[in-house]
Amino acid sequence: MTGRIVLVTGAASGIGKATAELFAAHGAMVVATDRDEIVGLDDERITTRRLDVTDDNDVASVIAEIGERHGRLDALVNNAGLAIPAPIDGDGYRAAWDMSIDVMLAGPMRLIRAALPLLRNSDAPRIVNVSSTEGVGGSAGNSPYTAAKHGLVGLTKSLAVEFGDEGITVNAVCPGPVRTGITAGIPDEMKDKFARRRVPLRRYADPIEIAHGIFHLAMPASSYITGHALLVDGGMTIKNN
Ligand code: NAI
Repeated sequence: MTGRIVLVTGAASGIGKATAELFAAHGAMVVATDRDEIVGLDDERITTRRLDVTDDNDVASVIAEIGERHGRLDALVNNAGLAIPAPIDGDGYRAAWDMSIDVMLAGPMRLIRAALPLLRNSDAPRIVNVSSTEGVGGSAGNSPYTAAKHGLVGLTKSLAVEFGDEGITVNAVCPGPVRTGITAGIPDEMKDKFARRRVPLRRYADPIEIAHGIFHLAMPASSYITGHALLVDGGMTIKNN
């Protein structure tokens, strides 16, 4: 990863932050971006920028800056996300739907379209989209999130085929439960109870464990993996009893 140019969205917290730190620790030049202010990413190989993935102007200006500075992008990590509980008949459903799709499905689409010319200048271009176990299954009260994450797996697969002849790989990582901002409101006791019942590894993941899955798919050496949705879920999805 030494000298590779990497853009990470949603890097102020959780999985995105751990991903920025991991890539930088392996010598990558990381552009860490978030809608919120980013604090605590002090590695000299990390540049921080404000970027709301729903804002075309933010996306265009960060991509333009990377173009001017580096002339290429080697890996795009579409990680920004949020969880809004939304029962289908609830008052806030439409707002939750619009926001979920805009951030977690249209966001990656915006970044990919804007970054494509720079990815085409890389000798090992990689796109990694952070989906979820909600991208392969579903749970109640969560349908905007689940729809966005399923959509993101679809985007991943379609573009993997479309970009195949250019050697641009497109993959997704599907995390199970992780200790991050999104799950911070769930009391530890409930987290433990859920994990003991549902997850073969019996615990929530730490963000760095998801970052390693992302890192793997972004490596130049991962050149024959494309269109894959990698479960990093402690075995949750395959557990029947
Ligand atoms: P987090 O809340 O710690 O980090 C998410 C980051 O995304 C935050 O820094 C937030 O400011 C940023 N963000 C939200 N909307 C944005 C926007 N419009 N533009 C730019 N940045 C924005 O949560 P976590 O868990 O690290 O989330 C990262 C990704 O992992 C998300 O896509 C989430 O859906 C996914 N995921 C998380 C799981 C978990 O259990 N924590 C499980 C499966 C998937």
